[in-house]
Amino acid sequence: MKVVIASDHAGYNLKSRIIEHLRGGGDEVTDLGTDSTESVDYPQYAMEAARAVSSGQADRGILVCGTGLGMCITANKFPGIRAVGPGSSGQAEMSRRHNDANVLCLGERTMDAGLALEIVDVWMETPFDGGRHSRRLDQITDLESVRELE
Ligand code: RB5
Repeated sequence: MKVVIASDHAGYNLKSRIIEHLRGGGDEVTDLGTDSTESVDYPQYAMEAARAVSSGQADRGILVCGTGLGMCITANKFPGIRAVGPGSSGQAEMSRRHNDANVLCLGERTMDAGLALEIVDVWMETPFDGGRHSRRLDQITDLESVRELE
């Protein structure tokens, strides 16, 4: 699976751990930065990763910042992106089975690295259930062409 990963300064250390973990398991991981703990603006990194998934250049994206929240808000602005920030491996599993989530957002300052890696594994390995869930995702996708929500 082709995975893009990005972080800001606050997520840099956890991002490095995740890259090492995924590459060790044989995934093709493209690191889109940042490259240090020097302060940067998280939307710039979320945008680049979300664009890669939205355009089909990558199958999945993983984003890390201090909380995972700003990354998630940014990524969800892009067409076809279903970004989630699960707090447990159970939520990570359901985000794949029912929501076909294609971007995973994690917070280095708010989550233990061990749990984060467990969430990454479950999220990467769990397939989408399809069926009735596809109809519901289509309803979400339809919102992308609505200019004004009523
Ligand atoms: C950076 O200080 C912090 O705001 C950022 O990493 C993230 O948590 C934003 O949602």
